[in-house]
Amino acid sequence: MGETIVILGGGYAGIGTAHKLLKYTKPKVKELKVVLVSSTTHHFWNIASVRGVLPGGFTDEEMYHSIEPGFANYDKDTFEFVLGTATGIDTATNSVSVNTADDARNITYTHLVIATGSSYPGGLPFTTVGTYEESIGALHSLQRNVESAKSIVIAGGGPTGVETAGELGYAYGDSKQITLIIEGGKPLPILNPDVGKTAAMELERLQVKIVGGVRVVSASPPDDQVSITLSDGQTLVADLYLPLYGMRPNSGFIPAQLLDERGNLKLDKNLRAVGLDNVWGAGDVGDAEPKQLIYAERQALHLADNLHAVLTGNAGSVKELRPTVTPQVFVTVGKKKGTGQYNWFKIPSFVVSAAKGKTFFTEKASGLIAGKNIVRSSI
Ligand SMILES: Cc1cc2nc3c(=O)[nH]c(=O)nc-3n(C[C@H](O)[C@H](O)[C@H](O)COP(=O)(O)OP(=O)(O)OC[C@H]3O[C@@H](n4cnc5c(N)ncnc54)[C@H](O)[C@@H]3O)c2cc1C
Ligand SMILES: *[C@@H]1O[C@H](CO)[C@@H](O)[C@H](O)[C@H]1NC(C)=O
Repeated sequence: MGETIVILGGGYAGIGTAHKLLKYTKPKVKELKVVLVSSTTHHFWNIASVRGVLPGGFTDEEMYHSIEPGFANYDKDTFEFVLGTATGIDTATNSVSVNTADDARNITYTHLVIATGSSYPGGLPFTTVGTYEESIGALHSLQRNVESAKSIVIAGGGPTGVETAGELGYAYGDSKQITLIIEGGKPLPILNPDVGKTAAMELERLQVKIVGGVRVVSASPPDDQVSITLSDGQTLVADLYLPLYGMRPNSGFIPAQLLDERGNLKLDKNLRAVGLDNVWGAGDVGDAEPKQLIYAERQALHLADNLHAVLTGNAGSVKELRPTVTPQVFVTVGKKKGTGQYNWFKIPSFVVSAAKGKTFFTEKASGLIAGKNIVRSSI
């Protein structure tokens, strides 16, 4: 019987799963076809965007990689790349609807993998936003705004807010006014207090001003300047405002009964959509683990193993994913410093800057496209 695996989302998890199935499962399941549906022709190495939004931080070629050439070596009837956006799923007929530039397609699957990731509500280009052209256009425009701004306010005390503030402080601490708004007293609230304290100290050394214990209530539409109203009644005015909080799963096209109250795809421990045998999920769109690449990477590889078991007639060897319960987070603070936590240990600054701060693993992107690795794990 023919097996058509439709994968939604050409991000880290989607590309990784597609390659793994084509490399290991296709040779054992002759009638297997993989269809990768992606709203963008190019993968965006978004974890580098905290530096990439600065002009000259990374080149376009370091951050964007064309996806299709990586699949050129598989048989033509084995793989199909569909440039388009998934708009609906009908689990009764095992079909997805996809809007392409030319038409609306209805594609049937035997198994569906949902890997559409997450994004910021404001649509900032720290993730893929729309097509490649839209995404790179938004990034270039943000780079120009960063260059011309004299004052930049960042909101969000999570890793992305801290890393972005760190890069801006490192590059412009003495020439632009950089402010970071955080809800709590310290950044990185999900980590050991000591880690947040180090991050705050390093940011202050880079002349980033931290405004703590407040939330953003509203921000005016970007004009010449933006005015940002805070929960304590203060108003900040800045040339550029970057709201880097409130990450949301890209799940608007998924039937509501498959989602939790925050819009995450509900997954069981085998990475199947709860209640369905042939719908699977990995990465930021799902509720299995925190929204981090190290988890998306592991989930994609685990999902491909489980799907391999099912497709090769060994459904009994489907395995549960053991979710990570302790944080594993590396946070850069500018080019030279960083902090983070690995299980219960605080990671020394030099380890973070050596492991991550130099390149943000951009050297791994061509391997992802070619099907050799996702980030640090090989496929
Ligand atoms: C600035 C930033 C820095 C980060 N740094 C780190 C870090 O250092 N370490 C770490 O562990 N994690 C980090 N993360 C988190 C990491 O980026 C995510 O966990 C990771 O991208 C998740 O991968 P994914 O494959 O699930 O989704 P994504 O990489 O988001 O890929 C999803 C893809 O699906 C596409 N898509 C969306 N909707 C549709 C649709 N309807 N139809 C078709 N395609 C669609 C998207 O455009 C995108 O191309 C960072 C996140 C941000 C924002
Ligand atoms: C695809 O087409 C079939 C047949 O017309 C229909 O029943 C199904 O709902 C469509 N799928 C989606 C996701 O719209």
